Amino acid sequence: MNHKQNFQWKKMTMGTCYYPEHWKEELWAEDLDRMLDAGITVVRIAEFAWNKVEPTEGRFEFGFFDRFLDLCEQKGMNVIFGTPTATPPAWLTEKYPEVLNAAKDGVLYRHGGRKHYNYNAPVYRKLSARIVEKEAEHYGRHPAIVGWQIDNELNCEANEFYSEADSAAFRVFLEEKYGTLEALNEAWGTVFWNQTYTDWKEIHVPRPTLNKGINPHQHLDYYRFISDSTLKYCGMQAEIIRRYRKPGDFIMTNGMFRNVDNHRMEKDCLDVYLYDSYPSFAFGLNRDPKAADDLNDRKWTMHLNEVRSVCPHFGIMEQQSGANGWTTRMEGPAPRPGQLTLWAMQSVAQGADFISFFRWRTCTVGSEIYWHGILDYDNRDNRKLAEVKDFYKKLKSIDAVCGAKNVAAFALIKDYDNEWDTEVDVWHLRVAEKSEKEIFAASELYHTPYDIVYLQEDSELSDLANYPVVIYPHPVIMDESRARLLEKYVDQGGVLVIGCRSGYKDMNGRCVMMPQPGLLQKITGSDVRDFTFESPAEEAVWAKLRGDGAEAKIEMPVFNDILEPLDGAEALAVYGNSYYAGKAAITERKLGAGKAIHFGSTFSRKNLNWLFAYLGIKEPFADVADVPDTLETVMREKEGRRYLFVLNFQPYAVEFTLRKKARLLYTKEEAQGRQKLPAFGTAVYEVSVD
Ligand code: GAL
Repeated sequence: MNHKQNFQWKKMTMGTCYYPEHWKEELWAEDLDRMLDAGITVVRIAEFAWNKVEPTEGRFEFGFFDRFLDLCEQKGMNVIFGTPTATPPAWLTEKYPEVLNAAKDGVLYRHGGRKHYNYNAPVYRKLSARIVEKEAEHYGRHPAIVGWQIDNELNCEANEFYSEADSAAFRVFLEEKYGTLEALNEAWGTVFWNQTYTDWKEIHVPRPTLNKGINPHQHLDYYRFISDSTLKYCGMQAEIIRRYRKPGDFIMTNGMFRNVDNHRMEKDCLDVYLYDSYPSFAFGLNRDPKAADDLNDRKWTMHLNEVRSVCPHFGIMEQQSGANGWTTRMEGPAPRPGQLTLWAMQSVAQGADFISFFRWRTCTVGSEIYWHGILDYDNRDNRKLAEVKDFYKKLKSIDAVCGAKNVAAFALIKDYDNEWDTEVDVWHLRVAEKSEKEIFAASELYHTPYDIVYLQEDSELSDLANYPVVIYPHPVIMDESRARLLEKYVDQGGVLVIGCRSGYKDMNGRCVMMPQPGLLQKITGSDVRDFTFESPAEEAVWAKLRGDGAEAKIEMPVFNDILEPLDGAEALAVYGNSYYAGKAAITERKLGAGKAIHFGSTFSRKNLNWLFAYLGIKEPFADVADVPDTLETVMREKEGRRYLFVLNFQPYAVEFTLRKKARLLYTKEEAQGRQKLPAFGTAVYEVSVD
């Protein structure tokens, strides 16, 4: 059996998503020729086509995809083959309704949409394993195939599961975790509101309750359980495909969705991780009108950054090429001329070396007749196809960037326990959401790029040590091993920054009876003597830097920890107003070769402007280019060469200055001094290192 491998593209590659089952066979050859002519050398197929291979239970027919794959081989087109489990067929759900997922009240989701299954029904696992094995066994050696996709978007559409099969599997998960009901009752604090369990059968996945009352500790385990179920289902398919695939063919899935530990999934099951990028959502009708300053489509950089933390050399399985919507949803307008390229380059800038556009041609039937592809129903050449061809030229001109690493000024630390805690605790959610969004905004506006690092059970000092600064905004949940790792990081010279609300819960989400920030106190030397969230009815709270004039106000929004420095820590700033005026707002403590900062509120683009400067991490490429905040800059680096991406998300031209000599890779022209990017324009420079 060949084992999990780490797959990396060797040169920039372009693809598209194609559905042979949606079109007359006579069209296949012409479609493939037109794709190849545009530079598309990979198609992803088959991920919803269970019926084409198993039209009735146990009857397998391989001819349809044999014909398509043979044609691909003949034309020189590469194929990523998707397993079809995202859409169980009608014969299956009719005969085995227990495979269906349910809403929280237990009502089953019926046939007619997609992802209507649950991961835990034994019969669905069996039938999924069988179709995957049949497909892998039959198509696995086909020369046109270069990779395999597992399912489609695991945990998209539904990321919560409430079927009977899930309750049964939840009990098994809990029995393995806790061993005894006493241990479970203790961990879940069931003494509160008389929730004590006396038999495993009394335990269910969460069900509807009155007035939003939940057991948060049960919910935390429930999200861990969903993640575990997703990983097991994905792992089962990967293990089968690995037995049959050709050496070198990769196994991937397209993410990134909630309630799954994507990092563990990548490590345990996949050779490479792909993402589906649809920045046009930012302009859709469902857009939050309050989010006027939320950077719109630039926000996709934040998601892509997260994808890079899962897999540094990822690909895009579905890159937006047209307007998005279903017959029941209007999601996002068509990319304006230039935006298709801009969004694809945004993905490349963040680390993608493979860009596959969704989809070759818009479907003429079904829910997704408005999820537009490159070509429209009329099948004529159009501006989108012309732009794909132009993008291809640009992509090939930056082949040297393939495999290059993104340069970061700091790391943002996250972990799944805290992420899932935000789903059960709105007090946690409020600070976490605000800080993450604002750290991203500050990074964009001040051209200060970051990596995201997830702390996992097997995290090591080397995962952090290369970053001069790490920001762990609100580690509400903290345990000994993470605290020890952070201490080691600081001790060897790192700078750790934590925000308010740190360290007051244990791994079960129970509050710890110790001074905050709990286990982190021995690193920060800060003591939270009082705390409160800010009332919208009161004046905004601010802090004043020690020794500075009153004009140096630092905003301390949303929530305040009122601090006292202990053990060699000192106050960098004190609160300037409210009933805690004069008390420490930001503390700093030197420890070993590094230091730890406790920032007593959430982060905002304004207070990060000060913090980035104070930490000496602001605008690391200022010597290379002077760029206004309306443009995004990204640096990738490989074999001593540096590549600067400059992306214009604005509908108007924007100027900037190259301070060093650079080469515009699209044209190979030398550039220096004042430059102008047109509306939605992009540029990639090789920057001279002297
Ligand atoms: C993606 C999905 C595609 C397609 C697209 C439009 O999430 O993977 O299959 O459905 O959305 O809805």
